[in-house]
Amino acid sequence: MKKILVINGPNLNLLGTREPDKYGDDTLENIKTMLQEKAQKLDTELEFFQSNSEGELIDKIQSAKNQFDGILINPAAYTHTSVAIRDALSAVNIPTVEIHLSNIHAREEFRHKSYTAAVCIGQICGFGKYSYIYGLTALVTHFNQ
Ligand code: DQA
Repeated sequence: MKKILVINGPNLNLLGTREPDKYGDDTLENIKTMLQEKAQKLDTELEFFQSNSEGELIDKIQSAKNQFDGILINPAAYTHTSVAIRDALSAVNIPTVEIHLSNIHAREEFRHKSYTAAVCIGQICGFGKYSYIYGLTALVTHFNQ
């Protein structure tokens, strides 16, 4: 069974109450439950990790080497700032899909640039909580190709 690490970056622990017009009113716990159901159908195993700290996110990515077959990551604001997270993803070289709840390309200009997307298989954004489902499906499709 394929093992996938699901990483959520800063402020995503506040989902449900944080700017629901942009991010929906589901909590991260709700999203996890929904994703877990999908993972069972796709015969994959998930581990979840959320941190508000760049260093902790990097440590987790580094520790994923030889432990996980894939990474699904919403780096949140670090998407637009973190060369260090990009380098960590590049270093472990695990197939990764970047996801965002909102369509970052339709928002402020500083959100249009992703440092991390270039070291991912691809990026999915704009589908709210379903971005997580589509991201997981994309990773599994990638494994089966
Ligand atoms: C986000 C988009 C980012 O620009 C923002 O900083 C977030 C959430 C999203 O899922 O839409 O924290 O990654």
